[in-house]
Amino acid sequence: MVFEYRAPDWAQYRMDYRRPFAQLESIENEIRVVDEALAVLVDANILPHKNYDPDQFLRFRQAVQQTFDIPWTAISPRVQRLLWAINAIAQPRTVLAAGIFCGFTFALNIGAAAGPGACYQANDLVGIEIKPAEAARAEQNIRQIDPEGKARVVAADAVDFLRTYPNEVSLLYLDADGTPEKGKGIYLEILEAGYNRIPSGGIVLAHNSVNARRRLEDYLAYVRDPVRFRASVNVILDPEGLEASIK
Ligand SMILES: C[S@@+](CC[C@H](N)C(=O)[O-])C[C@H]1O[C@@H](n2cnc3c(N)ncnc32)[C@H](O)[C@@H]1O
Repeated sequence: MVFEYRAPDWAQYRMDYRRPFAQLESIENEIRVVDEALAVLVDANILPHKNYDPDQFLRFRQAVQQTFDIPWTAISPRVQRLLWAINAIAQPRTVLAAGIFCGFTFALNIGAAAGPGACYQANDLVGIEIKPAEAARAEQNIRQIDPEGKARVVAADAVDFLRTYPNEVSLLYLDADGTPEKGKGIYLEILEAGYNRIPSGGIVLAHNSVNARRRLEDYLAYVRDPVRFRASVNVILDPEGLEASIK
């Protein structure tokens, strides 16, 4: 089944890529919009419920804001909250994030299992970044909130990493931008490399379902095919979009 959630003001809700924590609306409104999106994910049976602790998210957000080196990011405050909340609710035992750049998106996907604001225990949390210099920066950033080393950063090609990953993948987050020719089209290659490791009930999240929809045409057709995924929701909180799918 294919669903969509579209915030009424998604096209006007625009962030400054260099100021990821700048307040674009009241926190009450941010919470309300994310709540509506979570309700659609519950309707689609991607999440069991929509309850998360906003204070835990706040602790996490403040720690990242104070300690991370983030040159830029396209992850808006609404999507920051949504990613953290999805993980806090689904509590995936293994999280793999592909194309993590400076580690900000990885932090959002593991912040419910590591660091201030953690609310459950995971088994393996892996951020994969192909550029060694960015992987090193991500490692440095992640260690600020996770000094115990619950999460790990790997400098590797996510396609190769997924192909040989030995465990089940409970949640896969896709944000790699591939080569200039492929761009975000690489999502499908990464997903296909790890598809057999994703159990029934495993979640796949893909950033840029709106602004990269042309490059993602094959990917979106794949996750919206009921033979491969039970449900998929295009969550449109901002002009970037996030596709959330359940196997
Ligand atoms: C543009 S960044 C994502 C940024 C994120 N959307 C944000 O707004 O914070 C994409 C990252 O994917 C990495 N990447 C590209 N191809 C990859 C691959 N095959 N495996 C792992 N990482 C890859 C790039 O080096 C880059 O750091």
